[in-house]
Amino acid sequence: FSGYQIHDSISSLSVHTQNLQRQIDELSSFSDTPAPSVTRVLYSEKDVLARGYIKKLMGLSGLSVREDAVGNIFGRWVGSQPELAPVLTGSHIDAIPYSGKYDGVVGVLGAIEAINVLKRSGFKPKRSLEVIMFTSEEPTRFGISCLGSRLLAGSEELKELLKKTVDSQNISFSDAATFAGYTLNEDLSSVFLEKGSYSAFIELHIEQGPILEEEGISIGIVTAIAAPASIKVDFEGNGGHAGAVLMPKRNDAGLAAAELALAVEKHVLESGSIDTVGTVGILELHPGAINSIPSKSHLEIDTRDIDEKRRNLVIEKIHKSALRISKSREVNLSEFKIVNQDPPALSEDSIIEATESACQELKLSYKKMISRAYHDSLFMARISPMGMIFIPCYKGYSHKPEEFAAPEDVANGVKVLALTLGKLSLS
Ligand code: GLV
Ligand code: MN
Ligand code: MN
Ligand code: MN
Repeated sequence: FSGYQIHDSISSLSVHTQNLQRQIDELSSFSDTPAPSVTRVLYSEKDVLARGYIKKLMGLSGLSVREDAVGNIFGRWVGSQPELAPVLTGSHIDAIPYSGKYDGVVGVLGAIEAINVLKRSGFKPKRSLEVIMFTSEEPTRFGISCLGSRLLAGSEELKELLKKTVDSQNISFSDAATFAGYTLNEDLSSVFLEKGSYSAFIELHIEQGPILEEEGISIGIVTAIAAPASIKVDFEGNGGHAGAVLMPKRNDAGLAAAELALAVEKHVLESGSIDTVGTVGILELHPGAINSIPSKSHLEIDTRDIDEKRRNLVIEKIHKSALRISKSREVNLSEFKIVNQDPPALSEDSIIEATESACQELKLSYKKMISRAYHDSLFMARISPMGMIFIPCYKGYSHKPEEFAAPEDVANGVKVLALTLGKLSLS
């Protein structure tokens, strides 16, 4: 906040750390795999229960709750000047298969607690403060990352794509949404937000990397988010009997996939930059029998960089390799689809400065850094000034059950978020 008011408020910024930890633990119990792993997939029964839990907490914090057509959930604390564009904060609670309980969750439960902190301190917001839980940051079910925030940012392309998108069980996006209580007969453009709807968006998140922990620093202030892309590839061959078809007669779709996976690694390493990464996280063979030559293979490739051009060059090379392999192995490249090819995003200076001064006032060590993981912030940056706050996590582990952030570190993040929100609300 400003002047002596800041000092007064800081001394009373108290996070209910144990309560917050209990909520993190409780939310992790809405999972389709056993603890300590968490699996919470979009519009599943567990996702619906978890959504109910978030709405309940928002209500208990006195926020007025609304949901849009795809289930982005908003909870608003109305400020003294409700006509001004509000400040938004939040993250996601969906969890990829066999992941942990902090990714995204810290930024949703932590945001609600940041509101509680401000309320307990007696703070009165000028701009309204709003918490958001985004629908499906993770691409697990429909292969589309940051589904909720892409729509909020006005993606016509996604709106159209969702009309014909199905999951691996052939359930349409619209049927899945209906199961979760969202009827999409409404035009999805109702989800789109005007640029300027919010004066700022800020997301609290675990670092998902080792830097803060290794360097013993409490807070990371994100300056930019790396540019992610994902690609789906299908090869088709003739298949056949694993004993009877002799090697020269084969066109093995599985080996084509294996060769392409190694080519991805090669092209990424050729970039010469440590910032270029590539992963083949899905590799499926059909029919998947030990005594049958794979007749079909399916790969999903994730590649990222802080330099968009360099990342795009990797994608081009992967495409060329896929074509070359299909020729040399006489398999059909039946699909090479770039699912998304997103540009990087920059944080807004004014939000970086607000977070920086919050850290200084709270006497917490901090460091400016880039985010190598993507976040809903990447898309919110298209319609609002954006910033992110990172907290340390154990060994940088994420997207696995060992993911952990110490309660004190979470509490520090919540304090910094609360103070930053306070400042942005008055600005
Ligand atoms: C987000 O989960 C990412 O994959 O970066
Ligand atoms: Mn994640
Ligand atoms: Mn996340
Ligand atoms: Mn495919």
